[in-house]
Amino acid sequence: MLKESDRVWLQSVIDKITRKMDWVSEKTRHKIPYTTIDGTYDDRSAVNPSGDEADGICWWTNGFWGGMMWLMHHETGLEKYKEIAQISEEKLDLCFQKFYGLHHDVGFMWLPTSVANYRVTGNPESRKRALHAANLLAGRFNLAGGFIRAWNDLADGDTRGWAIIDCMLNIPLLYWASEETGDPRFKQIAMKHADTSMETFVRPDGSVNHIVEFDPWNGGVVKTYGGQGYEEGSSWTRGQTWALYGFMMSYIHTGKDEYLQTAKRIAHYFIANIPDSGIIPVDFRQPAEPRREDDTAAAIAACGLIEIAKRVGGYEKDVYLNAALKLLRTLDASRSDWTEATDAILQNGTGAYHSKSHHHAIIYGDYYFIEAVFKLKGNDLYLW
Ligand code: GLY
Repeated sequence: MLKESDRVWLQSVIDKITRKMDWVSEKTRHKIPYTTIDGTYDDRSAVNPSGDEADGICWWTNGFWGGMMWLMHHETGLEKYKEIAQISEEKLDLCFQKFYGLHHDVGFMWLPTSVANYRVTGNPESRKRALHAANLLAGRFNLAGGFIRAWNDLADGDTRGWAIIDCMLNIPLLYWASEETGDPRFKQIAMKHADTSMETFVRPDGSVNHIVEFDPWNGGVVKTYGGQGYEEGSSWTRGQTWALYGFMMSYIHTGKDEYLQTAKRIAHYFIANIPDSGIIPVDFRQPAEPRREDDTAAAIAACGLIEIAKRVGGYEKDVYLNAALKLLRTLDASRSDWTEATDAILQNGTGAYHSKSHHHAIIYGDYYFIEAVFKLKGNDLYLW
């Protein structure tokens, strides 16, 4: 699948990942990091330890560190990575008790931790946690609109009718639950949400909305929001990638061809908008200045593009694969820090276009970068 020069490059990146994760994992053993402070990983499990807030132990990214450890365990066979992943997973039990902090991102939290653990070790406690999370996600389904509610009410508003494109990568938890239990309800909800998303989020040109608000009683579309992108009608790049990779995963779990065609349409839009530099902006429709970029979108897109490439042939395969290689080679060459000056690999992540800070480490950037690199090698652990 890869040219010899790409193979040589790939092995060099795997060597760098393996060297860096060896020491980073040790010093981060008891943390659940989100970003770095002066080069050292923070610890979301220590934020608001006694509160119900969604930004502490229930923070939506808290599954990615455990997921990175499972990827490293799968690659190296080292027990220490498994042990660290299990520390994260056990800490997340506190969220189940808090409940009010939980949201649709239970997929991002328990797929890379409990489902991964169950897949690798068969641990019955992990299965129980993952099924519990799947039931919480299924319970957010709105029958009138056919969508999964994203968030709980915000300080300044009612979000009963809000769905967000990111959920396309949470619903694999529902596919897993149906595959695991034989109960079709979870898959039915996931497919209904995916069908609604195809109709209401994906635009004819292959770009996607971030947020769609439905009337929570009759299901009609009320309005769309720019969300974490530049403005309404713009094209938040990480949202494009949640859609690209998410529809691809829905295709892989269901075999429904429309999901594959939708993933391809989003991919074509994404590929057509990759700048010559290979550096992905926060929003494809943002102003030229100030410069704002997001490494995480590049890494997530690469994962989705590789999955499409695995399922098509000939010239088409090269289109997706070459785009993924361009993104990953750019991240490695100019957006990574492989030294001991910082715990994170990718340095230029951005939470949202209008966030106060930009261009900092974000845990899922590193997670998806590592996942994409192992996917290219053909040794990824199937976490979604
Ligand atoms: N799921 C929220 C984000 O991508 O930032």
